[in-house]
Amino acid sequence: MALPQLPQLGLDETGQDMNDSRIIVALDYAEAGPALEFARRVNPELCRLKVGKELFTAAGPELVRQLVDRGFDVFLDLKFHDIPNTVNKACAAAARLGIWMLNVHALGGDSMMRAAREGVETVSRPPFLVGVTVLTSLDEDQLHTIGIDRSLPEMVERLASASIAAGLDGVVCSARECTALRGRIGEEALLVTPGIRPDWAERNDQQRIVTPEQALADGASYLVIGRPITTHPDPAAALLSIARAIGAAA
Ligand code: C5P
Repeated sequence: MALPQLPQLGLDETGQDMNDSRIIVALDYAEAGPALEFARRVNPELCRLKVGKELFTAAGPELVRQLVDRGFDVFLDLKFHDIPNTVNKACAAAARLGIWMLNVHALGGDSMMRAAREGVETVSRPPFLVGVTVLTSLDEDQLHTIGIDRSLPEMVERLASASIAAGLDGVVCSARECTALRGRIGEEALLVTPGIRPDWAERNDQQRIVTPEQALADGASYLVIGRPITTHPDPAAALLSIARAIGAAA
């Protein structure tokens, strides 16, 4: 069934983004149906949406276009990591979907990140481009196994600094890393943080959780929140409750 077209919300008359929501809902669904159903139930002015590898691989660019057409800012979480030319072209293709944010692995190196920046700049309203430092699933032992002998915090800080030096807008990081990174990479850089849990939510498989209020107090720019909202019996109410808790909704 074709979805009704909604007006492009959140843009002012000059096309600037007016959406100031700090909440990015992780749409970790296996297919387009539940993702679109979720999008039908929530207000695009209260959140942005993250489409990751599973959903994108299943539902493709068409789903991203539909979410954008429905007025949502979309963070395409594909964590590109390849040779500079390939990442440049992939970033340009992603930017043409009208997305709001995109990411690449900082471990791809300076020339890859610069190529990514050039790729997103090929559209008139380029998405934010952020770097992934060290995956939070990796511990120091695993870093040593792959030949990285530095400490984990040192690696995170090095890769965050390298991201900013290469012209990226910020990094994805654990909320626990925000305070240190804010001091290291400056006030302007975006810090995008998963592992967020309101007091009332289950922690699921997240080990080191932080409340939305605390993450923002520690310097996070955007909060990636999935299951507390998407698996809630009333996702719109869960979103509104978090937005109110951080003072983003009346
Ligand atoms: O459901 P939950 O709030 O745990 O979802 C968090 C989202 O953030 C998921 O899409 C997950 O893949 C992503 N993420 C994460 N930890 C990272 C990087 C990304 O939880 N270090």
